[in-house]
Amino acid sequence: MKLVIGIVRPERTNDVLEALFRAQIRGFSLSRVQGHGGELERVETYRGTTVKMNLAEKARFEVAVSDEFVQPTIDALCAGGRTGEVGDGKVFVLDLEQAVRIRTGESDSSAVTPINPQDDLEQQ
Ligand SMILES: Nc1ncnc2c1ncn2[C@@H]1O[C@H](COP(=O)(O)OP(=O)(O)OP(=O)(O)O)[C@@H](O)[C@H]1O
Ligand SMILES: [Mg+2]
Repeated sequence: MKLVIGIVRPERTNDVLEALFRAQIRGFSLSRVQGHGGELERVETYRGTTVKMNLAEKARFEVAVSDEFVQPTIDALCAGGRTGEVGDGKVFVLDLEQAVRIRTGESDSSAVTPINPQDDLEQQ
């Protein structure tokens, strides 16, 4: 299992949601974050050159998936998030040791992969 983290432009959120849904990836967390991609803006001051760091608003998806859904999740984040301009964001993939569905006590892959995604529709 992996935890796939995608940090994308907030205005691409709906495109990412649609791409995840089409890839049958259910279950994710979404939060608003502020970040920085590393570019430094040079600002001239009367004492010399200094740098300014602007924080950008981003949307952060966290998707815990079983192994067969790792690449589809990365693809969905990239396809939904991409504009081709600087600042499109990043995808990070982390090993995930354990996942537990609290209601049933199921753990690992059965906790992150719906057996039948259709069953899931009413439960969200
Ligand atoms: N190394 C990093 N660690 C954690 N978060 C990062 C890192 N790099 C970028 N981010 C997050 O991703 C957001 C978007 O980054 P950004 O797309 O500018 O990355 P980049 O590497 O500069 O790519 P680009 O050249 O397309 O701008 C940042 O605002 C930040 O939230
Ligand atoms: Mg950048």
